[in-house]
Amino acid sequence: MTRSDSAPSTVGVYGGGRMGAGIAHAFLLAGATVWIVEISDGAVRSARERVERSVAYAEQRGKLPTPAAELLSRLIVTTDHSQLQACALVIEAVPEDPDLKRRVLRDVEGVATGAVLATNTSSLSVDDLARDLARPERFVGLHFFNPVPASDLVEVVVGAETSPDLVADAQNWVTALGKKAITVSDSPGFASSRLGVALALEAMRMLEEGVASADDIDTAMTLGYKHPLGPLKTTDVVGLDVRLAIAEHLARELGARFEPPGILRELVAAGHLGRKTGKGFYNW
Ligand SMILES: NC(=O)c1ccc[n+]([C@@H]2O[C@H](COP(=O)([O-])OP(=O)(O)OC[C@H]3O[C@@H](n4cnc5c(N)ncnc54)[C@H](O)[C@@H]3O)[C@@H](O)[C@H]2O)c1
Repeated sequence: MTRSDSAPSTVGVYGGGRMGAGIAHAFLLAGATVWIVEISDGAVRSARERVERSVAYAEQRGKLPTPAAELLSRLIVTTDHSQLQACALVIEAVPEDPDLKRRVLRDVEGVATGAVLATNTSSLSVDDLARDLARPERFVGLHFFNPVPASDLVEVVVGAETSPDLVADAQNWVTALGKKAITVSDSPGFASSRLGVALALEAMRMLEEGVASADDIDTAMTLGYKHPLGPLKTTDVVGLDVRLAIAEHLARELGARFEPPGILRELVAAGHLGRKTGKGFYNW
């Protein structure tokens, strides 16, 4: 069994959706017993199926060192959040709604009194989410990427009150998952969204100005700078609506340099959201 010395052995994941299921998969792989908390019996079934599918896919591709059944024997999916009391770490992965996240975090803090709490938020302020916590020093951002099992990166997002010991622990846990941690102060867009969106917005402005075709702009980055995908194709994969929302958020927080270009607004208004709708900067 691949039990890592430095991954917590008992982990809670609040919300077993796209990200929560992937996070559960990652910790199961590192040897932990994982509790997922969901909102209803139907959501419990869906969350379990998501993890089962994710683990089965990894097994088919030869990416599991232990049989899927062994991993899944350490998974508990429940609607009862009091079961999180045994966890050393609880990561919330509920929808991106600050009030909901604050409520969930407060509830978890009440039952899992010895646990470190973490948020997988992709855009909200860690300090803002820590507002109602009794122990904000035990709270940190762990920003996983989608799909979690295939992604090598986790941003460790450090709030004003996060203790330095917890930052060191969080970095070790990420390493124990076989991923690379980068450490970022709580700030809009963290490192990944801020840089990724900055590059994409400039690529869109270049397309608008007729500097080059979408394909040639992307090729400048893939062949010139060894990016796996160019900024426009990446935007198609992520979703133009998702990137528009992030750009609007960053423009509010960081200023006009993140103002979404007209071409992005127009494509979103026309329902061209990228790969998921069959058209964005490319036809899919
Ligand atoms: N999807 C991505 O690419 C991505 C990437 C990085 C971070 N994130 C962040 O991860 C978090 C989760 O995103 P996701 O894409 O997994 O969302 P999702 O909608 O797929 O999953 C959310 C899950 O939370 C569950 N849930 C549990 N308790 C709930 C409650 N009290 N109220 C409502 N729902 C409850 C829902 O049933 C659902 O299964 C968000 O904060 C998001 O910003 C998403």
